[in-house]
Amino acid sequence: MARLIRVEASGPIKIEPAQFPRDEQGNLKPMFICACGLSKNSPFCDGAHKACRASEQAGTLYVYDRDRTAVVEERRDT
Ligand code: FES
Repeated sequence: MARLIRVEASGPIKIEPAQFPRDEQGNLKPMFICACGLSKNSPFCDGAHKACRASEQAGTLYVYDRDRTAVVEERRDT
């Protein structure tokens, strides 16, 4: 499976170390960076990948709408 997603950003997203989440003891907590392209909280994962895992099939290319919530087109991925 693959997907086409509109990306309009033209620069990086800076993540300051002071923003890194820490537990009560001050230890760094894991951060999850979105790799599926569907997160609305980019660059962080917001759980949106669960929808594509549940519905996308290997060998198909999925085109998503501007909101990254609905598949508007499916093509054979050759
Ligand atoms: S990997 Fe993209 S939302 Fe989780």
